[in-house]
Amino acid sequence: MRLQLSFAFVIALAAAACGDNASDGHAPKAAPAASVTPTTSPPASAPAEAKASAAPPAVPEDPARIAHGKELYLRICAVCHGKNGEGYVADAAPALNHPGYLGSVTDALLRDAIENGRTGSTMSAWSKAHGGPLGTEDVTAVIAFIRSFYQGPKLVLDEGSLPGNPRSDRVRGAVLYAEHCQKCHGARGIEGPNARIGDPAFLRRASRGFLRLAIREGRPPTPMPAFRDALGLEAIDDIIMQLRALARENAPRVTRGSQPKPQSPLPLPKLPQNPKGRDPRGFRKHPETTPLDVVYREMKAGARLALLDARAPSDYLREHIKGAASVPYYDPSPYLDKLPKDTWLVSYCSCPHAESKTLAQKLLNAGFEKVTVLDEGIGAWRAKGHPVVSEDPPAAPAPADKAKAKAQTEH
Ligand code: HEC
Ligand code: HEC
Repeated sequence: MRLQLSFAFVIALAAAACGDNASDGHAPKAAPAASVTPTTSPPASAPAEAKASAAPPAVPEDPARIAHGKELYLRICAVCHGKNGEGYVADAAPALNHPGYLGSVTDALLRDAIENGRTGSTMSAWSKAHGGPLGTEDVTAVIAFIRSFYQGPKLVLDEGSLPGNPRSDRVRGAVLYAEHCQKCHGARGIEGPNARIGDPAFLRRASRGFLRLAIREGRPPTPMPAFRDALGLEAIDDIIMQLRALARENAPRVTRGSQPKPQSPLPLPKLPQNPKGRDPRGFRKHPETTPLDVVYREMKAGARLALLDARAPSDYLREHIKGAASVPYYDPSPYLDKLPKDTWLVSYCSCPHAESKTLAQKLLNAGFEKVTVLDEGIGAWRAKGHPVVSEDPPAAPAPADKAKAKAQTEH
């Protein structure tokens, strides 16, 4: 049993490390296979392991599908995840091109994340069912394009029990989690700043082997460290048990209501605000931004302006600045002939700039001249107590959570 585990581990390590070598000084260098290869041949249970591993498509992908996925990805996803899936272009959007990730993640996990988003992060729900732009086939195409970032073999995941079958211990796991993981993943695993690993939807799709690989090997060169040396196999399994327990506790906080499918595109509300008002003072044309305090002051003083929510409609439906219209950055075309030309348009998002700046640029390109971006985004607006409309009011967060949410939206 021990032999089988270490063998699987070596394969995973070697495969995870290759492909990173050029770009990354911290990547674990794959040990020469000969020095660590078990002296006997692989165990007879290899097929069972292969079955347990993630399965990227066995048939070559249709180039037309990849091209369609590429167009969607570049228009919608690249503002945060980067043109090549390198991640961290905006906010804490993770890398999508990591060999360890793509070699181990299932299509089901990818689809779930893309269609339903990740509550509490800027990762929106992109499916048509949530008012987003992507149908089922579109998501398939986007996944095909993301898969094209990695041509290597699928990794053999270590799903088995530990040698000697020690029982994972949540209490130990909770202590280790607080010590090693909390600062990046949040006390409950859903507060960020990094991946919501306590999200029940994520954990439903993440197998033990997938989690072990991510924790043991990390995701160099991203900030996710490799814990292979700092924590033993047992400690890592204890932490995984703590994650699964967190997911059960988090379920009520992150469940999306089953609302009817929203109208698409969403209709514009009455624009502008203060239609008879004067022009606002102190607004700065994109690519400059306008501070939140200036926008709020001018709005209260009765200046004429229109707030545009640049995010996905699912985010807008959940919460938006009072009086704002939904004009998604990836396709403002249905709204262009309905937006006022003589009025300052204030684009905002929560990242706090990636989507709002993309929309502002598209509006300038379409001939609008008075276009600015709200500097701090909707998170800061809410934190200051300015009016928002929430169709799905969350349970009042504890004060500690509020402070954290504020810090997170402002970074
Ligand atoms: C210094 C910050 C940091 C620490 C500490 C950290 N992580 Fe991470 N973690 C990250 C980042 C950043 C990512 C996303 C990496 C990427 O872009 O692929 C991540 C990703 C992950 C993932 C994969 C999530 C996914 O969606 O695929 C798992 C699982 C994970 N971390 C578990 C842990 C555990 C367990 C610990 C503690 C033992 C821990 N992390 C400690 C920053 C951290
Ligand atoms: C506004 C920025 C933003 C945009 C735009 C965006 N994402 Fe994300 N995405 C994120 C963030 C932030 C996360 C990490 C969520 C978390 O904390 O778990 C994420 C997570 C993900 C994950 C990882 C889920 C997991 O847990 O392993 C996938 C896959 C993903 N995004 C795909 C996409 C695709 C495909 C698109 C375009 C259709 C897209 N994203 C658009 C910000 C964004």
